Amino acid sequence: MTAGMLKATMPPRPTTLAQVLLSERIEKGDRVIDATAGNGYDTVFLADAVGQAGRVLAFDVQSAAIASAEERVKNAGFSDRVEFFQKSHTTLAEHAEPGTISAVMFNLGYLPGEDHGVVTKSSETIVALDAAAGLIRDGGVLSIVCYSGHPGGDDEAGAVEKWMTLLASRGWRVAKYGALGTKRPAPFLLIAAKG
Ligand SMILES: C[S@@+](CC[C@H](N)C(=O)[O-])C[C@H]1O[C@@H](n2cnc3c(N)ncnc32)[C@H](O)[C@@H]1O
Repeated sequence: MTAGMLKATMPPRPTTLAQVLLSERIEKGDRVIDATAGNGYDTVFLADAVGQAGRVLAFDVQSAAIASAEERVKNAGFSDRVEFFQKSHTTLAEHAEPGTISAVMFNLGYLPGEDHGVVTKSSETIVALDAAAGLIRDGGVLSIVCYSGHPGGDDEAGAVEKWMTLLASRGWRVAKYGALGTKRPAPFLLIAAKG
């Protein structure tokens, strides 16, 4: 599956690469979080990875996103293992115990085709990242796809990259991946492994 995912586009998009890297770390029965459910592509990936005994907690502030993600999860046959919250990811810590989550995915920005005014904001994203770092168990992984091409995106991407650099100083292993030489600012993936 991993090789097939990588064949789709070379070099892979940051969103694809996040899934490929996380698929190596997530095991059946794990509890994981999709912090920005959107159209549910990552939610379905996570639900597949954790298997029937696992659990995905999926967050989005937008009702259109929750409806779209729920539909995609239902069509994939994974409704039994996904719990949706129409809430900000700033509330993550209210929904899981510290050190119990093996992966958290963030895909920042706005929902394609929907209201571009509903967009992740650095002030909330940093609060959510602090919460996510506390929930992730040893050996767990955090992935963030950042976009800088929309208003506010550059500030957010910069703040998130700075936050990830600080995480490295706390013992996490952190890396950045993205395309070079693009005409417009390219999205990039930040990934951090704990312990
Ligand atoms: C790029 S989309 C996510 C795409 C999604 N990962 C997928 O696989 O389809 C970003 C999403 O973040 C959501 N969002 C914005 N602010 C949020 C917040 N504070 N908490 C949770 N989700 C938020 C938007 O509504 C949007 O659906």
